[in-house]
Amino acid sequence: MKMVFFSAKPYDRLFFDKHNNIPGLEIEYYETHLGPHIANVVEDAVAVCAFVNDKLTAPVIETLAARGIKIIALRCAGFNNVDLDAAKAHGIRVCRVPAYSPEAVAEHAVAMLLTLNRKTHKAYNRVREQNFSLNGLLGFNLNGKTVGVIGTGKIGKAFCKIMLGFGCNVIAYDIYEDEALKADGVKYLPQNDVLATADIVSLHCPLTPENHYLINNKTLGLMKEGVVIINTSRGGLICTTDIIEALKSRQVAALGIDVYEQEEKLFFRDLSENIIDDDNIQRLMSFPNVLVTAHQAFFTDEALSQIAQVTLNSVGKLTEGLEPDEAVILV
Ligand code: NAI
Repeated sequence: MKMVFFSAKPYDRLFFDKHNNIPGLEIEYYETHLGPHIANVVEDAVAVCAFVNDKLTAPVIETLAARGIKIIALRCAGFNNVDLDAAKAHGIRVCRVPAYSPEAVAEHAVAMLLTLNRKTHKAYNRVREQNFSLNGLLGFNLNGKTVGVIGTGKIGKAFCKIMLGFGCNVIAYDIYEDEALKADGVKYLPQNDVLATADIVSLHCPLTPENHYLINNKTLGLMKEGVVIINTSRGGLICTTDIIEALKSRQVAALGIDVYEQEEKLFFRDLSENIIDDDNIQRLMSFPNVLVTAHQAFFTDEALSQIAQVTLNSVGKLTEGLEPDEAVILV
């Protein structure tokens, strides 16, 4: 029994090989992402394992189905890259890892916020050059600031709790309000009120057709001048060209992104010897008040262990004809 694993990195092999206790399951690793160029290499396999930038479009799923694939195991929470209707039509089961240390992502969002605010990335380089000047390193206290959180699911909730611990006023928008968070002091408001009131906005909702480019010219115009925006969710939530303009006009004082709308051409690779064609990411990286990390918010030991265990457990159950937990099954 075989599972073909796409977008494989050395750390994926480490954790999946360590946790592969399924009798007879062989994992065949491919470094390339899954897309139309490679789908037809899949052979004698029951499952494919995919990550955020693998492209599981209808034609790819059709090819996988024709090659006998019965399971698409996503080793991530988001599933906007999978045509679920196509999977259903071909009788392919799709599972995911709904939560893998939400704290890992929430803590990374906080790390980005603290770095941008207190400029520790600059201080680190500066003192190595024996430059002990403080000019240009001025930050602000987070204590007492208003933090706006869009999406208070597992990650958003963990983020809210950390921000409450910093002494921030936390306001939030979600299509479902979380009573426990309300009891902790989080105030739910309509989305535009959150955007208009917050000193810091952090995005923790999934990307859906409805909220594509949630952050655009219009919504940026509602925000306070000097707002700090953090996005560890999905790149498509922010219109990159609009935020570049907002950074140029100083409407946005700082931007931290762990995700980028064109990230599949860039992230998870060493492109240090390449010429990058994407002018928008180059423009973003040229701002001193923009911090880009390459989709690493999830990247902790705890999260990688959980991802491997949950994925393998689901594949094991599905191949035995058992039903995994409701939360992990998409189709
Ligand atoms: P979750 O499913 O627990 O929570 C998502 C929340 O967003 C839910 O409360 C839902 O009601 C709410 N929501 C849905 N549509 C909304 C909308 N239009 N406006 C406001 N709220 C909305 O998901 P979780 O685990 O908290 O993950 C959130 C997102 O974080 C994922 O969808 C994924 O895109 C991203 N993520 C990023 C990672 C990284 O390494 N950068 C790793 C894991 C997830």
